Amino acid sequence: MKRSSVLLSLVLAGALSLCAAGRATLIVNGGEPGAQISRHIYGHFSEHLGHGIYGGIWVGPESSIPNTDGYRNDVVAALKEIKIPNLRWPGGCFADEYHWRDGIGPRESRPKMINTHWGGVVEDNSFGTHEFLNFCELVGTEPYICGNVGSGTVEEMSKWVEYITFDGESPMANLRRENGRDKPWKVQFWGVGNENWGCGGNMTPEHYADLYRNYATYCRDYGDNRLRKIAGGPNSGDVNWTEVMMKNIGTGRMWGLSLHYYTVPRGWGAGGKGSATKYSDEEYAITMEKALNMDNIITRHSEVMDKYDPRKRVAFCVDEWGAWYDVEPGTNPGFLYQQSTLRDALLCASTMNIFHKHCDRVRMANIAQMVNVLQSIILTQDDKMLLTPTYHIYNMYKVHHDATNLPVELDAPLYVEGSHNLPALNASASKDADGVIHVSVVNIDPKNAIETTCQLRGITAAKVSGQILTADRLDVHNTFEQPENIKLQEFKGAKLNRKTGELTLTVPAKSVITLTIQ
Ligand code: AHR
Repeated sequence: MKRSSVLLSLVLAGALSLCAAGRATLIVNGGEPGAQISRHIYGHFSEHLGHGIYGGIWVGPESSIPNTDGYRNDVVAALKEIKIPNLRWPGGCFADEYHWRDGIGPRESRPKMINTHWGGVVEDNSFGTHEFLNFCELVGTEPYICGNVGSGTVEEMSKWVEYITFDGESPMANLRRENGRDKPWKVQFWGVGNENWGCGGNMTPEHYADLYRNYATYCRDYGDNRLRKIAGGPNSGDVNWTEVMMKNIGTGRMWGLSLHYYTVPRGWGAGGKGSATKYSDEEYAITMEKALNMDNIITRHSEVMDKYDPRKRVAFCVDEWGAWYDVEPGTNPGFLYQQSTLRDALLCASTMNIFHKHCDRVRMANIAQMVNVLQSIILTQDDKMLLTPTYHIYNMYKVHHDATNLPVELDAPLYVEGSHNLPALNASASKDADGVIHVSVVNIDPKNAIETTCQLRGITAAKVSGQILTADRLDVHNTFEQPENIKLQEFKGAKLNRKTGELTLTVPAKSVITLTIQ
């Protein structure tokens, strides 16, 4: 097995040959705390797309599926368990053709529309502003609303903010009261358009930056509600878009700038993106290589942002990311319904470790999408629900919410597949408000376990416990018939040497571990 150093590549290069194959050293620098890992990087996204909302979250109060005021009880309970911090809605591409006034008032009299982006199906607008915001309250999450720039107006967006957040007497606040909600909701995250370089209007960055300034001006702060306005950001590596946003909008006018980056194993061509459950060893390696490229993409955009904003006032919001495969055979191609295997859990945990590393700039992220669409954490079928391997990573990693990032240094073997050479391990660590340390390690190598020594610098450790997610094959996934093929398990394999403060553990092939150190 070849060797590489992930973070200390140059410094440690000379020492690499001294290490045995299949061994790694991880240093956790407890004495050099970094920035806070915002819980909002554990955010989610639900679009009016396929069964992301209808059937997935909302079944309506008359449904025989157990529900509370129309929301599925099983889904609500699962989301509460992982403490989802925010939820982005109503799109996506759908956001820039959504007219919010069609989604208020008596449900039976709301106008219908065509969902042109997603299957051309009829959208009956039965899930609208009240249904979304009440759902957020039920789940205990913060709403992140994405307004319509592509086909909406400044007035329309301005009035939506007034309708939701104004407490006094005004036409919009009174309309909200007529529709059954007296007190305003609190909404801080407000997106001004989505993918305005593409489905959100096919604009040039200069044109969008001007529109952003215009629309954002009229999105007012009412009472003590403070909007955190988020500008539609670049697609993947388009640093020119970032440059224009930073230069033409400026740091004082936006709280955040978004980024969309999807992992598509075979690319966007006509030949297909690759199956969610059937993939070769090489396709797995390509998937992980593309996913790990998130680090490079964030670094490149951050460099541009740093030029204009060295104090890092503007948050980078990766508000769409995840694996995008071919839809499950026999399902509507416009509904983007895909399964999720252990591969996706490894991808998710590795991405979270990257976000932790960049937590001084990346302060929000939203996996696409929460239920029944793309890399979901939950799949539903009629009255059945299953939790995907990705869900279990959100559960395992919730200990990092709002904790302080502790920098890590990792010297680990390479995982080699054909011409693909990737660092087999990636890791991150944090310290929570009670002083408890959590160390998360991912071994993406599907065949080789790695003996790992973990040095805890500046940390006094008395005991260690852990959780692991793994399976005997990469393609293992949960099904409605067997919903527990893969789930979190206790990990007892870490040994703490109290004298040296060193931890030793074997990180199994294709696994994710989070250690709790007290
Ligand atoms: O998440 C699916 C789609 O991907 C979103 O609607 C759009 O923003 C992106 O292109």
